[in-house]
Amino acid sequence: MMLSIAIDGPVGAGKSSVSDAVADRLHILHLDTGAMYRAVGLFFLQAGIDPNDEAAVCGACKNDLIHVDVRFTAGRQATILNGDDVTDLIRTQAVGMAASSVSRVYVVRAMLVARQREIAKVQPILLDGRDIGTVVLPEATVKIFLTASAQSRAERRYSQLKEKGIYITLEQVLTEVKERDHQDMNRKIDPLRQADDAILIDSSHLSFHQTVDAILHIVEARYERKT
Ligand code: DC
Repeated sequence: MMLSIAIDGPVGAGKSSVSDAVADRLHILHLDTGAMYRAVGLFFLQAGIDPNDEAAVCGACKNDLIHVDVRFTAGRQATILNGDDVTDLIRTQAVGMAASSVSRVYVVRAMLVARQREIAKVQPILLDGRDIGTVVLPEATVKIFLTASAQSRAERRYSQLKEKGIYITLEQVLTEVKERDHQDMNRKIDPLRQADDAILIDSSHLSFHQTVDAILHIVEARYERKT
């Protein structure tokens, strides 16, 4: 059977970098699904449309104005919005919030979930997001729910931003983390939640390498059992 790994969890749990490392070690691709929601969020920011305006978001989708895709070069994902490479542009806090807002809209989710399933069907892959184990790949070989306390997630995010030269206080980051958690966990359609058969990893007191190793162990155990 084809290997598929679902890693879900809240913002700042280290999903992206942990997923990259796990996929590298297993020599499979890593699809960052958050990047696809971010591309949709960016579309509305660039168009000057409020991402919270559900009717406008629906309208743009239904009029086929938004095409999001990904491209893999040497294993690295590039995210494409209407033909433009937006890989770097989508990494801002503002785009993150816009992504969280548009991700509440059913047509946005339906469009992106369909594309994610197509990508996962044709190759062994690891997907990270919020609804991978519950909605996108309910039959995934391995499901991980990666979380950490809001405080430690905010601290990690804070140092990442500082490294990038973006100055914002720890309190501001913590407020944003909590705001995003609330929005992602309380939306009506496919909210962030742990799948019943997902394995919970709390990385609050784990190093990056310990987290990666913990996931690799789970994958080895599961994959051997299922093949
Ligand atoms: O992981 P991220 O910060 O790049 O995700 C941005 C937003 O996209 C997040 O706040 C919620 C949404 N999202 C989602 O609803 N479903 C996914 N599978 C991935 C992200």
